Formats: sequence, structure tokens, C-alpha cells
Amino acid sequence: MRKYFWALCAAGTCLSAMAQQKSPAKTYIIKADSVKAHVQPTMYGIFFEDINMAADGGLYAELVKNRSFEFFPSLMGWTEVKKDGGEGSVEVIDRSKERPENPHFVTLTVKSNSGYYGLANEGFRGIGVKKDETYSFSVIARQHADSKIELHVELADANGTVLGHADLKPGNQDWEKYNVKFKSNATVQKAHLNVYAKNAGAIDLDMVSLFPEHTWKNRPGGLRADLVQKLADMKPGFLRFPGGCIVEGRDLATRYQWKKTIGDIDKRENLINRWNTEFKHRPTPDYYQSFGLGFMEYFQLAEDIGAEPLPILNCGMACQFNTGQTVPLDQLDPYVQDALDLIEFANGSTDTKWGNLRAQLGHPVPFNLKMMGIGNEQWGDNYIPRWKIFIKAIKDKYPYMKLVSSLGPDPDGEKFNFLNNTFRGLNADILDEHYYRSPQWFLDNSKRYDNYDRKGPKIFAGEYAAQSVGIASPDNKNNWQCALSEAAFMTGLERNADVVNMASYAPLFAHVDGWQWTPDEIWFDNLRSYGTPNYYVQELYSLYKGTDVVPLKLNNQAVSGQNGVYASAVTDSKTHELIIKFINSGKVSQSAGFVIKGKKLKSTATLITLRSDDLTAVNSLDKPTSISPVQRTIQLSGNKISLTVKPYSMNVIRVKLSN
Ligand code: AHR
Repeated sequence: MRKYFWALCAAGTCLSAMAQQKSPAKTYIIKADSVKAHVQPTMYGIFFEDINMAADGGLYAELVKNRSFEFFPSLMGWTEVKKDGGEGSVEVIDRSKERPENPHFVTLTVKSNSGYYGLANEGFRGIGVKKDETYSFSVIARQHADSKIELHVELADANGTVLGHADLKPGNQDWEKYNVKFKSNATVQKAHLNVYAKNAGAIDLDMVSLFPEHTWKNRPGGLRADLVQKLADMKPGFLRFPGGCIVEGRDLATRYQWKKTIGDIDKRENLINRWNTEFKHRPTPDYYQSFGLGFMEYFQLAEDIGAEPLPILNCGMACQFNTGQTVPLDQLDPYVQDALDLIEFANGSTDTKWGNLRAQLGHPVPFNLKMMGIGNEQWGDNYIPRWKIFIKAIKDKYPYMKLVSSLGPDPDGEKFNFLNNTFRGLNADILDEHYYRSPQWFLDNSKRYDNYDRKGPKIFAGEYAAQSVGIASPDNKNNWQCALSEAAFMTGLERNADVVNMASYAPLFAHVDGWQWTPDEIWFDNLRSYGTPNYYVQELYSLYKGTDVVPLKLNNQAVSGQNGVYASAVTDSKTHELIIKFINSGKVSQSAGFVIKGKKLKSTATLITLRSDDLTAVNSLDKPTSISPVQRTIQLSGNKISLTVKPYSMNVIRVKLSN
């Protein structure tokens, strides 16, 4: 038999032969009226970090890189351009004393009265433009005395063909913002922006900016609509921001400081992105944070997509994979104050200092912040005394806040055990576990939470992703094997909803030409984006999370790896459904009979399947939905659901309950 099987494989019919193989029928018992736990509305969520050009060059729709000349060197991303005999020079001016948060601008001096002289911006790995889209150009400019420079801006492709253009006449000798709109006549992946000056004279320029008009909710200077849509489609329970290690900074000087990320965008101090230099094999020297996507935008985004906001704050420690700098305990006050002020910013009435600022920024209604993380991925002795100071100060003033505490970078081992024991002893609210592990680890750990203390802290599976090669290896792929193993593991999250209250895949986004870390949930280029198989796994869990966990058993045991099968079940009191997740991680079909007890079923069910015969299969920009959910209706007879479940598949069965 075995010989015959391999002969078939060699003849290219291996997969269909495998599919024809079937394990003997199994009967799974579901007690649909026996609620074991309530699924928290915060399941499942989003982990956002500005890594892989997720913010600048990604979600934040600004198309000009280094718009305020704060990169090093100051003209990174810009090149001198001339046409029709134009001549001139460019100088970068430093006004650090006057404007420490935005020290640089450029002076363009035009020497000729004819022709054009200026700067071209290359964008973030090019500027993606769409035919008939309107682009909004803006600049903060100051005309020198006796100068009558006019600006001519154009989008052009690599051959110099102009795709759209507009003119501006900055008249003021004081800084003033000028805007103009124009359309592109073609779709081009990697265009560039020319900013030309004409007529002899000199002009100062800062905050040179270009946005598409169609952003998420068409907000001027807003977010990329296709990327936000992918997040909204998941109906996420929470949005964790702004990271990730970016919270900590490589050193304390480069930590994330939320107060510097709100208000006028030209007053938000740019910072080198910590991922700029993190990986020697993926250097990204042009990776900075403009903070155009700052804390106000994060809160707004969370509200837009119906997710609970979950900010993570620096706890007085820089990244322990880098400098591990710590703030002396007697100097921690400003850090703690940042946390208290953030709660007031999010929730305070407009009579309060920070609540009033929120109102001035356009959101008088509170954001209803309920959770906050104290530190990102900390470990060791230094964390505890800092954590205690934060917790006391926050709980004293805002007892309703639930605080998230890190259990370090690993899901086990010395660092994990130390923090796990310590925080359980200290009655922490929520523990943040991270697991970047092999697909096999995910399969082996689907029972991880079955024996956790039901009365202890809640669990936030804050960062996880199966790594096809190794942790953060540049060769990792978002392949079906990884996604399938995550799907199997997540039956254990669902089954243990009384303990696991939040979960998020990480990282979220990656630019195909600008990433540092792989795998990632959603990939994009300048115009397109796609969800990985891992994205669809997350989406299916999130959309069909239900409200109550009910037991699903095989031979009176939870289904967690028997014959390669992983399964869990929930009911949804809002839609009156029973929802079964059934993951077949094996290479043969499974005959499954589900006997439903305690509730009556309607006569049809919906079967949603996510699968591939090929464990190495991936989605891509050109084939974005190769692996994506496929839905069909199945007929039922009585209170039994009988199915033959394909190999290597995730299946969601939704059936209406009649009482
Ligand atoms: O998700 C990428 C990184 O992995 C995060 O920044 C960090 O928290 C973890 O080590």
C-alpha cells in the first residue's frame, strides 16, 4: 500500500490520493447549552507597531519622505532637479534654537530668470499614484525679500513623463502654508515628485507634503484607505499601539513619547525609527518616524474600527535587546505622569487640561480608555520596582484601569517564570505573553491554557506568529503551514476564554520593499495590499468568536491534536448560532460527525473553509486571495452534522439554533 502511495505521488497525483485517504469516522459531542466561559469582546485584536514601514510609508498616507528635512543627512530622499536651463542652489538651514522640534528647512535660491530649479522627492520606495486620483500638495513656505519665486509641482514617472502638475505663488515673507490639488493621468507604482522654483530669488520651504485625496474616511492628511479597510474587516476587539519595541527605544532618548505625537504635525519632533538600524541584514537608513500617525490618530483609528484602544507606555526602561537603560526610581515621575496624563487625555472631561486638549484636537467626547500596558517586552529585576510605582499611581487615581504587564520575550524559561510568578503574586490584571515559535510549537501548545489558574490574572497573547525558519529570520514565510498551526493553537485560546481575554498576531504590516521583520500579517506595496493566510485565520476567529464557549469533546476529551485535529465550539447569543472551529492539520481527510446536545439545529449550516494542499503556499500581491475563505451551505438532518473535512484545512461551521 505504502509503495503504491509513493508511486502515485511521483506520478503527480499525490494530493488527490492523500485527499482520498480518510481517517475512520469520529463522533464529536457538543453540549450547546452548557456554557463554560464567556468570550470577551476584546478577542481578537490588532498589534500595531511602526516596523516594516507600517506607519510612514504605509498606513500614514503621506507620500513625501523626509518632508521636513529632519533625516540624516537632511536631504535624504531628495535630489536636485533642473529643467529648461534653470540654475540654482539648495541650502539646509538649521534653526534648532528657535524650533528644536523641527530644526531644519531648505532655502532654494534660483539664479536664472528662465527655466526651473528645485528638488525631487523619491517617496517611500517610490510614490504610488493612481489614474484620476486627486493629490493634495502642501508646503510651508517663506518668500525672501524682493523674491517672486513661483512653485511648479509635478508628479512624474521614471522616464520623466509628467502625470499631473500644479502651480503655487507663495506671496508671504512670513511662514505660511500653501495648498494646491491636481490629478494624476496614469497609475504608476514608483513615481516621484518634482518641486520646482522659477524666477530668480530665494524661498524657504518646510513640510513639503503630498497626500491622495481618498484616504480612510477621506480625512485630509489621513490614513491609507485600503490598509485601514483590512483592519476594519477583521472587526477587531482592540488596537494595541504604538508597539512593540518602538515603545522602549534603543535607548531612553529614542523612546516613544506620546505627548510629542499630537497637535500640529510640523511641531511633532521626528525621530529615527529603532528598526532603521536594528537588523544588520535589513538596514533601512531612511526609516524615521514623522509621527503624522500619532496618539490622536491611533485613538481615532481604534474608534473608527470599533476596537478598544490599548496604548503601551514606556515604563522607564529602554529595549533590553539594546541598551537596557533604566531610569533611576527617583526620576521616574515624568514617565508616570505621562501615563496619568494619557488617561486624562483619553477620558478626561473638557474641563481638564488634557481632556480640553483632546477637544481642541477635534474630539470632545472621551475615548473611553480602559486598558494600558506598562512596558513592552521587559524582563528581570529592574522591571518590578518601576512597575510597582506605575501601578500604584494609576490605580490610586483611576482604579477602573486594567493594566497589562509584560512576561518578557519568551513563552517559557527563566525570564518568563520569574515574571509570571512575581506578577501572579502581585495580583496583576493582565499578563502579556509573546510567542514567536515554530509551527510545531503552536501545534504542541494548543493545551497551554487548559490548566492555567482560573482565578489569576487574565492573559493577553500579545504577540505571536509561527516562524517557518526561525525567530525573525529574513527567510520566514507567511505560508499555509504557519497559518494552519496558528489556527490549531487558537482553538486553545478560544476554549480558555475565561483566562485568555485578548490575542493579537504580530507584526501587523510590512512594505514589500521596506520590511525588516517577517512574517507579517498584511503586506503591501505603494498601491496594493493583501492579507496573508495568517490574516484570514485571525479574521475568521474574530468574525466568528461568538459569545459563549461550549464543550466540544471526542471520547470525553478536549480535541487538541488527536489524529491531527484541533477543535472548539462557541455559541453566539446575538446571532443564535453554534459555531464550530475544526482544524485538520493532517494530510488525510477526516470524517467528522458532530452530535449537538441541548439545542436544536436548523436544517442548514454554512461551512467556511480556508485551505491549501500545499503547506508552503502563500498569498502575494499578484495572487492576494490564493488562500482565502470559501463558503458553502450544507444540509443537515436532525441534530447531527456530518462532514468530510479536507486535509490541511481550517473549517468554521455556522449553524442556526432553533431554540
Ligand atoms: O513584533 C516585532 C517585535 O517583536 C516587537 O517589537 C517586540 O515586542 C518583539 O520582540
